[in-house]
Amino acid sequence: IPGHLEVKKGHLHIGGVDTVQLAQQYGTPLYVTNEDRLRDNYRRFAKAFKGVPLFFAAKSNNSLVVQRILAQEGAGADAFSDGEIYLARLAGIPAQKILFTGNSKTDAELAYAVEAGVMVSIDSHDELISLSHIAKAHGKTMNVAFRVNPEISGDTHPKLATGLKISKFGIPRQEIVDTYKEASKLPGINPVGIHCHIGSQILEVSPYVETVNRMMDLVAQISKFVDLEFVDIGGGFGIPYQKDVKAPTPQDYAKAILPLYRKRCKEIGISPELHIEPGRYIVADTTVLLTHVNTVKKAYSTFIGVDAGFNTLIRPAMYDSYHEVVVANKADKKSASTYTVAGPICESGDILARDRKLPQVKKDDIIALLDAGAYGFCMSSQYLARPRSAEVLIHDGQAELIRKRETYDDLIQNQLIPGRLL
Ligand code: LLP
Repeated sequence: IPGHLEVKKGHLHIGGVDTVQLAQQYGTPLYVTNEDRLRDNYRRFAKAFKGVPLFFAAKSNNSLVVQRILAQEGAGADAFSDGEIYLARLAGIPAQKILFTGNSKTDAELAYAVEAGVMVSIDSHDELISLSHIAKAHGKTMNVAFRVNPEISGDTHPKLATGLKISKFGIPRQEIVDTYKEASKLPGINPVGIHCHIGSQILEVSPYVETVNRMMDLVAQISKFVDLEFVDIGGGFGIPYQKDVKAPTPQDYAKAILPLYRKRCKEIGISPELHIEPGRYIVADTTVLLTHVNTVKKAYSTFIGVDAGFNTLIRPAMYDSYHEVVVANKADKKSASTYTVAGPICESGDILARDRKLPQVKKDDIIALLDAGAYGFCMSSQYLARPRSAEVLIHDGQAELIRKRETYDDLIQNQLIPGRLL
């Protein structure tokens, strides 16, 4: 991708900056995000979906700086927890542009949402009753949507499908109309929207067409007694992690969704806004994860032992996800052998990439895992007492540290030792 990822003098560059130098300067594992690419992804999506408010799914990358940049671009946020509401607001996303979408919310989280004045997508009947009580006690009325289970399967990894009949999310379709009837009479509750999310890493437009149709069938019934201001069809827009995979563009999605949505609204005689919640599409390809080669070992496979594992990037272990591997300091060399890239975790599932053709790899080379910006750092952990990695932002050909590497102090920060054990 010109200007974003390029090979110059044999080294992989991101935003014009040499990744090998970055690894030297900041250490590894290191997440490196290109601000230009982030803005560009957002703008391309927003342009295709002109007039449709985008609620960035903060779960995909809740770094303050990433959200700050998206706030400047005009994004709202889909926040799944009180912590995500906190971060989104700190980053400058206004409360009216935040939809709190969690399932199994605590009363404390609901109270936090009421105080913050965000919108809430309600996931269950119990939650509706709790929110009504809490809002009333605060003397507030909350704008709410209900998350409905649309019973649709996008073709994706089973762990990433969220709108199946068997899924834990949302209110069953058969109950949704009655739920709106009840909600419209409850104190503290102002039903203004309807919400769903069918899953993630979806690479076709057809599940969205089906979703719009299903949602509008419900909207037609609900609109008889509630004035809906928005219909939120969630996120899930996939990206081509593998070069040869065909992925729809934002325009492809928009072409399939927008005219159909407008037609259905017209038939019903209503004009609510359409909302969408892209996460992965906006952030995934903005970021590379740099990792250092500690060992190369010939065993069953030729294993490259690197310093990032599933503590750093959990996606391959959790979803068998594919991330493209580039040997950052030999990016112009031809593939020589087949390698398996393995992390430093004590589990055989700790494989970042299996059977990849790469140039001859040696100790102290730098490996880049591409498309690591979505569900990367935010899903990382301190497993095996490994402090979490640092994050760097590239802007105008310069690198800026946006998250310090954790230290041993971070491993003990919240641990308490009873006096009798001292
Ligand atoms: N809206 C809701 C309510 C969601 O639950 C999600 C993602 C999104 C929007 C954004 O979906 P996206 O556009 O990013 O696909 N950790 C997994 C992905 C889990 C997605 C969960 N929900 C992964 O690494 O692939």
